[in-house]
Amino acid sequence: MPPLVRGQAAAELRDRPHDAQGWPSQAVRTSHGMIATDEELGSEAGVEILKRGGNAVDAAVAVAFALAVVEPAAGNIGGGGFMLIRLASGKTTFFDYREVAPGNATRDMYIGKDGKLDEEASVIGYRSVAVPGTVAGLTLALKSYGSMKLADVMAPAIHLAQNGFPISKRLAHEFEEEGSSLQRFAVSRRIFLNDGKMFQPGDTLRQPELAATLKRIARNGAAEFYGGETAHTLVDDMSRLGGLITLDDLAKYQPKVREVLRAKFDSNGHAWEVLTSPPPSSGGVAIIEAMNMLQRVPLKGWDDVDSVHMVAEVMRRVFADRAAYLADPDYANVPVAGLTDPCYANEVFATVDPQHASSSKIIKAGNPHTCGVAASNATFPETLVSLGEGPHTTHFSVVDAAGNAVASTYTLNDSYGSHATSSAGFLLNDEMDDFTTQPGVPNALFGLVQSAANAIAPGHRPLSSMTPTILLRDGKLSFVTGSPGGPTIISATLLSILNWMRLGMEPQAAINAPRFHHQWLPDRILMEGAFPESLESALNARGHATHRIGHMGLVNAVAIDPATGDRLGAADPRHDGAAVGY
Ligand code: DON
Repeated sequence: MPPLVRGQAAAELRDRPHDAQGWPSQAVRTSHGMIATDEELGSEAGVEILKRGGNAVDAAVAVAFALAVVEPAAGNIGGGGFMLIRLASGKTTFFDYREVAPGNATRDMYIGKDGKLDEEASVIGYRSVAVPGTVAGLTLALKSYGSMKLADVMAPAIHLAQNGFPISKRLAHEFEEEGSSLQRFAVSRRIFLNDGKMFQPGDTLRQPELAATLKRIARNGAAEFYGGETAHTLVDDMSRLGGLITLDDLAKYQPKVREVLRAKFDSNGHAWEVLTSPPPSSGGVAIIEAMNMLQRVPLKGWDDVDSVHMVAEVMRRVFADRAAYLADPDYANVPVAGLTDPCYANEVFATVDPQHASSSKIIKAGNPHTCGVAASNATFPETLVSLGEGPHTTHFSVVDAAGNAVASTYTLNDSYGSHATSSAGFLLNDEMDDFTTQPGVPNALFGLVQSAANAIAPGHRPLSSMTPTILLRDGKLSFVTGSPGGPTIISATLLSILNWMRLGMEPQAAINAPRFHHQWLPDRILMEGAFPESLESALNARGHATHRIGHMGLVNAVAIDPATGDRLGAADPRHDGAAVGY
């Protein structure tokens, strides 16, 4: 395996036209395979596998292991995620390798004796860690649809961990920013803070413990992570340092193969199909419900107040439904058919005023059980409030020469997860915070409201917003997309889809376009800085509260040029992402 170096794709990236803010204004075009990730070295790892004859699934698994080395904030083997696959044959599948709550977890485990939520316990340290799913998910995907050996697709990651890679400006800055939390954990401090001496851009980050762990996994497969030396090391960390995960929890972990959620739309004279993420993702249901409603809305673009208003009103309603109904489908009766039924969208859409903002105090979840679907026995669950999520997560998209496509989003939840690192060299998630951690307590980070069905219980998967999605146009592969960003994942992914499918934007423009988000509660539109003040004032005049944030989401997408079949890679310029192809 030749060493991977940043900058191989640089010329291709540099030579594209750029806009006034220095963002590339055109996607990277190739005729064979294309990979878009947050980190050039991650994209390179995948392209290397494609060039060696691997298919999109081989490359996706290689990318995921490589990002676990070069993007420690979110790339992981100590977390979980989703992988949506559409093979060139038309076969689709969804791997759910979301983490689960440990067997000793309890509904009120983060609530102190004083009845108050311990603000830190679900987000920092070993007690916030849910049973990781990544290694089980990736190895299952590879075994099911890959063509290469695990050791071969893991080779780039092992190389990067063992020999190191140059620390980018961004990474050095992240270590600095996360320093106060990382330094609380001896292993994290040693690996990521250089034992307190702090890394500078250009320094080499070598991760020998991680390299050794990856080598054992490459040799022994998932059994290593869930029962071998890695499992024993992790469980030893847990028992010494206050975590709950046991060998039994690891032995019991199972990734799930789920049916892809699908919906059809006509737009611009073409028949489109959206292939997206089923529960425990809330995102696929939300996106289909929103797109059903938006079929009635003539979208003009995001400088048009009517378009932004309508999407915000639709999202307000979609998130009210998310709060009431979405949870782990293995334990809750989630009314997916009702929520994604166009007939239900009609009913909900009828409550939208095209000129005035509704109030989230008045808008409540609808009743998806009565419209065109046989009533299920699902009840309206009690609504609870959960802590939100901090950045960060990572999404990557892969298309190979044969037209196989993978959309994958995986996460440690917060940036650097729990900030605790296993002695086996990998950061651990704080995914427990995606459960509803305390009934009725206002949300700390994202104000995300969720249902009682999402309460903590052993073996349950916390509700997720991650939404890897693939679009077909007239039956052919057209767009592979997804994003990080907690609940804003849903909006960022939806907007990328609308930009491509409804507004016909060039793929890079579809990624660059300014983003906004409404999640029902808090009752306000979050808007990126790039929106003009005039648009914000026009929204305020309609009764919307607005709140500016710098950037929202990091969408790394691959589109297919319908005329030529070329792959068009569009990484998000909000980060150091890179679309690399061949
Ligand atoms: O699964 C989820 O919805 C969250 N754990 C994702 C967190 C996230 O995207 C934070 N990132 N920016």
